[in-house]
Amino acid sequence: MAVFEILKFPHPILKKRSEAVSRIDEEVKKLIQDMRETMYEAGGIGLAACQVGVSRRVIVLDVSPMDPQHSFLAMINPEIISEEGEIDHEEGCLSVPDYLETLKRKEKVCVRGLSPEGMEMEIKGEGIFAIALQHEIDHINGILVLDRVSRLKREIYRNKLKKEKRKEGKP
Ligand code: NI
Repeated sequence: MAVFEILKFPHPILKKRSEAVSRIDEEVKKLIQDMRETMYEAGGIGLAACQVGVSRRVIVLDVSPMDPQHSFLAMINPEIISEEGEIDHEEGCLSVPDYLETLKRKEKVCVRGLSPEGMEMEIKGEGIFAIALQHEIDHINGILVLDRVSRLKREIYRNKLKKEKRKEGKP
């Protein structure tokens, strides 16, 4: 198993729609193990494959630190098939360091996809679990938390990054 580097905004892979997985082979299974380890190492509650540079529709989640009724979950080709209600939630992202913003999310979602064993699965989630599912599915569609805030807020973050780079003496 390996811990990957997590790509940060504005890496172009993060903006791309990831490709569906057509066959769950050893490579996909290893990817899931490595993503799991990378997520735990980074202290995150979710991770999408594109964040480690693999443009495929694979996500992992573990929201148990915030909602202990859930445990580790990996999903392949997940898609939201129904959603309900609205909730405001302050979100961060491992690919957008030092950024927290309150976003509007659906309160409940139903997601369909494949398990790592290739079994079709349908899961219903609410609260932090539903939010994490929406956040990771956004990732595989090339959407970051920064794409869900106003242009002004996005520009402020970009400028902050530029300033930090200048301070570090990077181009
Ligand atoms: Ni994220």
